[in-house]
Amino acid sequence: MAYNLLKGKKGLIFGALNDKSIAWKTALRAYEEGAQLVLTNTPVAIRMGEINQLAEICNAPVIPADATNVDDLEHLVRKSMEHFGGKFDFLLHSIGMSPNVRKGIPYDDINYDYYLKTLDISALSFHKIIQVCRKLDSINEWGSIVALSYVAAQRTLFGYNDMADAKAILESIARSFGYIYGREKRIRINTISQSPTLTTAGSGVKGMDSLIDFTERMSPLGNADADDCADYCITLFSDLTRKVTMQNLFHDGGFSSMGMSEKAMNQYDKSFRECP
Ligand SMILES: NC(=O)c1ccc[n+]([C@@H]2O[C@H](COP(=O)([O-])OP(=O)(O)OC[C@H]3O[C@@H](n4cnc5c(N)ncnc54)[C@H](O)[C@@H]3O)[C@@H](O)[C@H]2O)c1
Repeated sequence: MAYNLLKGKKGLIFGALNDKSIAWKTALRAYEEGAQLVLTNTPVAIRMGEINQLAEICNAPVIPADATNVDDLEHLVRKSMEHFGGKFDFLLHSIGMSPNVRKGIPYDDINYDYYLKTLDISALSFHKIIQVCRKLDSINEWGSIVALSYVAAQRTLFGYNDMADAKAILESIARSFGYIYGREKRIRINTISQSPTLTTAGSGVKGMDSLIDFTERMSPLGNADADDCADYCITLFSDLTRKVTMQNLFHDGGFSSMGMSEKAMNQYDKSFRECP
């Protein structure tokens, strides 16, 4: 159901790879809510993924950019402003990748070149995007910037590896730049800490199926899926959340506040009886 929450607003969306991507679902919801969009991803993701199908549905141009490359970002932001005929109102950073996770290298035997790549792609890119937008004065006053995070920034989850460090930096960038951009332009910056979700990036996380089952049993409301996450992003892009900034907002069915649930305990008791 649409509420016209983004009527007249313009937004730039990073990270739609295929129809499982959180960015994909968010773009669809934003379009449904009346927004005009520009979509972006890396050249290889555009070639290998399905973003052009999304672009057709949303009537949006796709402008390639590697989010770690400042020249690409400047080109992207200038072209987006040309397309919109001026500034835009919201931005979604939905980008993550760890070569250490991809190659199954454990945290205590980490490859440092890959580690730097993880941090650059998954965290520093957020700083680069915001810095470029600010220098080019591309976002309207009271605009909204959102990035996607994960509870591994605060709590250790087996197998999440160097992505945990990247998410901690990502959340810190939201606070540090949130102060600067808020003070100057009333632009708010937040991160959403999302439940484990079955997407291409999510499937790369060690033991994803068990993790999803565990968090489902632990969360009083159950896991939030990608559609739920898209809805939450829309609220943050809308004018209904104008005074929310510099926050990491848990969108996880209550998981982050739980210690032990009845469902998880039942499961644990069962496996304990089977193999004490
Ligand atoms: N899936 C989950 O369980 C989960 C949970 C919490 C948070 N998140 C976060 O949500 C975000 C989106 O991931 P997703 O789950 O939708 O998976 P996804 O694989 O669909 O999206 C990840 C995107 O990052 C893009 N990307 C990678 N390197 C890039 C670069 N250098 N420049 C620009 N884009 C680049 C990919 O092309 C892809 O579109 C990520 O930040 C992820 O960490 C995911």
